[in-house]
This record gives sequence, structure tokens and C-alpha cells, in this order.
Amino acid sequence: MHTFLNPLTRLGSPTLDAPTTATTGLPSHRTIDPSILYLGTPVLLISTRNPDGTANLAPISSAWWLGKTGVIGMGTRSHTVANLCRAFECVLNVASVDLVTAVDRLAGTTGSNPMPAYKQAMGFRHVKDKFAEAGLTPLASEGVAPPRVAECPIQIECEVVHLREVGPPGEHSAAIEVRAVRTHVHEAILKPGHRHHIDPDKWRPLIMNFLEFYGLGPCVHPSYLAEVF
Ligand SMILES: Cc1cc2nc3c(=O)[nH]c(=O)nc-3n(C[C@H](O)[C@H](O)[C@H](O)COP(=O)(O)O)c2cc1C
Repeated sequence: MHTFLNPLTRLGSPTLDAPTTATTGLPSHRTIDPSILYLGTPVLLISTRNPDGTANLAPISSAWWLGKTGVIGMGTRSHTVANLCRAFECVLNVASVDLVTAVDRLAGTTGSNPMPAYKQAMGFRHVKDKFAEAGLTPLASEGVAPPRVAECPIQIECEVVHLREVGPPGEHSAAIEVRAVRTHVHEAILKPGHRHHIDPDKWRPLIMNFLEFYGLGPCVHPSYLAEVF
């Protein structure tokens, strides 16, 4: 049986008997209330099918994976979520660092027409053909209707399994569970001699680090998991 904890009732509850910052000698922390918690995650371009059969494309960075199950976080007032609720499939095209200009061209655009008032107030534009806007090339998928982005080195065709609103009312956020049905990878990032392994030294993801674009630095330490998997 699950126990659902209400975090508010836990505020102010006593902490475990652990040293305080004053006694550890380690850097001290300040309690803050950040407006976003984008800690540094890869940027994806999600393609979905519009009602008229054309494709929409949008940058996202809220995504994580466990095996072939992925969860993406999206605003429910986006055109992408409307498409997902109707057609239940997408392609998650993972952007490499060299695609940053194309990705940034899509920031501030939406496939919604009319667009929600809050996006209008933020100066967003409606763009019907986001592939053309970004200068990216649509490529037919094999198992789903939305096209892949040819320039993205990793393309994951997905089915939507579950979509659930999350967060307090008025936050308009959804957690969307997807299942990877087919993954395509540019030959150039594969490990030589390994049919199914991406070479981390060759794969250069574009990272959204808080609201700025970054790349990855070099490998910093040998990895136990890399040895055992
Ligand atoms: C780099 C980047 C990352 C973004 N990450 C997310 C995200 O994780 N979730 C989300 O809902 N919107 C995210 N956005 C904003 C959406 O791209 C934006 O709402 C867009 O208008 C959605 O397009 P659509 O309305 O055509 O679906 C991100 C934008 C950029 C530029």
C-alpha cells in the first residue's frame, strides 16, 4: 500500500540527528525559492502530428528515462500536448550541441493558433512549419506518424502510454509517460565494433542549464556502471 505524504505537514518536522553546516566545515547553503529547477538536462525536439496531417516541432528539456520508458514534462497549454492527447505518438529527437541555433530559433514559437494569452503576453509567435523555421529536415519515421529530425543524431520514436496533470491547480503541467518503440542513431556516434552502443566520447548533447545552453565537458572519472553493464 502507498503512503501519500503531504509535504506541508512535514514542514518544520525535526530532522535526523546530523551535523549542522556550522560544524561540518563544508560550504554553507542558503535557503532559496528558485523560479525554475532546470538543473542541466539534454534538449529534445519533440515532433507530433497536427490535425491536418502536418507536423509540429517543439524544444523541451524536461525528460528522463528508465529503460525504454520515458517521462517528459510539458505545459498542458502547448500545441504539442494537444497533439499528444489526440494522436498518442511522437518522436523525441535529441539535439546535439551544434544544433543550438536551430533550437533557439524555435524558442518563442508555438504551433497553437490562436495562441494562449500568456504566450501572447510573452511575445510568442504562431509558426505553422517549425521545421522550416528552424532550418531542419523532416525524415519519415518507421513506426509512428510524426517525422524525425534528420539532423538530430538520436531519434526516439515513442508511443504515449499515460498523460497525467501534475502540480498544483493552475500550474498547467503534465507528466507524459512514453514508451520508446524504435531508436535511430547517426553512425558517427556509435562505438566502433558495437552495433547498439553510443560512444559517450562522440555524443555531444545540447544541455539546458537553468535557462542557458551548454555542452558537456570531458569525462571526469572512470565509471563503475560503465564497467558492469
Ligand atoms: C531549450 C528549451 C527547452 C524547453 N523545455 C520545455 C519543457 O521541458 N517543457 C515544456 O513544456 N516547455 C519547454 N519549452 C518551451 C516550449 O518549447 C514552448 O512552450 C513552445 O511554445 C511549445 O511549442 P508548441 O506550443 O508548438 O507545442 C522549452 C523551450 C526551449 C527553447
